[in-house]
Amino acid sequence: MDNFEYCKPTHVYFGRGVENSVGTYVKAAGGSRVLLVSGQGSAERSGLLQRVRTSLMREGLSFFELKGVKPNPRADLVYAGIETARSQGVDLILGVGGGSVIDTAKAVANGVPYAGDFFDFHLKKAKPEHSLPVGCVLTLTAAGSEGSDSCVIEKEVDGKVIKSGHNCPQNVPAFAVLNPELTFTLPPYQSACGITDMMAHVMERYFTNTRGVSLTDRLCEAVLLSIVENGRQVMADPYDYDARANLMWAGTLAHNNSCGVGREQDWASHHLEHQLSALYDVAHGAGLAVIFPAWMEYNLNHDVMRFAQFATRVFGCEMDFEEPERTARAGIAALRSFYKEIGMPLSFDEIGAKEEDIPRLLNVLGVDEKDRLEGHFVSLKRSDCEQIYLLAARYGRKPR
Ligand code: NZQ
Ligand code: ZN
Repeated sequence: MDNFEYCKPTHVYFGRGVENSVGTYVKAAGGSRVLLVSGQGSAERSGLLQRVRTSLMREGLSFFELKGVKPNPRADLVYAGIETARSQGVDLILGVGGGSVIDTAKAVANGVPYAGDFFDFHLKKAKPEHSLPVGCVLTLTAAGSEGSDSCVIEKEVDGKVIKSGHNCPQNVPAFAVLNPELTFTLPPYQSACGITDMMAHVMERYFTNTRGVSLTDRLCEAVLLSIVENGRQVMADPYDYDARANLMWAGTLAHNNSCGVGREQDWASHHLEHQLSALYDVAHGAGLAVIFPAWMEYNLNHDVMRFAQFATRVFGCEMDFEEPERTARAGIAALRSFYKEIGMPLSFDEIGAKEEDIPRLLNVLGVDEKDRLEGHFVSLKRSDCEQIYLLAARYGRKPR
């Protein structure tokens, strides 16, 4: 096991009705003038935003609004938010929505005290030194942004759409309001994208070269098993409170690094996927369902036994000691079959991606054959990434 630091500063308020006290949580976090960030209308339609406003008013807090965050959140709204926050003397950013809203809130929080362009952080030209505190009311169990140190934003730079994340301690929210009932209104497709994304957050940590990490292996497996079990229940009955609640907590644990400490993590699949969501505006979870199994197939022989362990412990595949590769492949097949069962796409065709765009995807990914590699479990060169995209592009097609 590697050395690590562990500090989880997010105050979680979990359960039915907790959003009605959000004003007191803002005060407890030191906020008095709030920028309230929301998406394209779901939180308004459900009445949630009004309940949040009422709670802020009840506590005598001033607030200003930034509405209209799109999935795969764009930089232009972040600039608008920074301007409002500066001109109104905002001291806390509150996101009410899914990962895109929370990431927009984080980006504004990073940008307000920074003299340059906030996207410098995403281009790795600078690191935020001070940021405003961020709180969130989560409406979609998926990205894990409510507990993560990550913030992902999209911007067009020199004619290329760049979707890029950066990590820093200030990105970890000061508080997260998690009421599973707020996810009852999710369309099945969004629930399934969320299930896929949170599984991917665990799997990016699970496929590691670090030895002696049996506890975090087991934590990862427990979270994955719970996601599969409760994911199935949620897809069958969207109003199953306990299934939604288990899924919601699993989504937070999947990405607040509780399952990832002391071990090398990979993240190539996420970076390969971000190029798909940037180019085709596909949901992040859907892109991951296409990419992750292709990444697994391509890297299978790097550590067959780890893939076989995943197969047996997460999907109950039978261990073939004579030929462990068969077990490993059965695990990938089981994963794909689960994605299909919940309505996720499995190939480029299903998300409208095109094989001929692969060179464009690789260019924005920015890998080469020598110095700029992707991933840690296996260091991937540009030609390796190309093969993974090709596997994803050709999956399910009949051989010519
Ligand atoms: O905009 P509204 O109207 O709210 O609709 C949203 C949006 O259309 C809808 N929605 C959210 N909650 C709802 C709801 N609809 C009905 N009922 C509800 N309760 O869902 C749609 C998708 O929302 P979005 O926030 O985009 O989804 P998600 O939470 O999956 O976030 C995806 C973004 O997070 C990034 C992804 O790349 C993507 O940009 N990620 C962020 C991470 C992080 N910060 O740690 C890590 C992830 O790996 C990921 O990269
Ligand atoms: Zn993700």
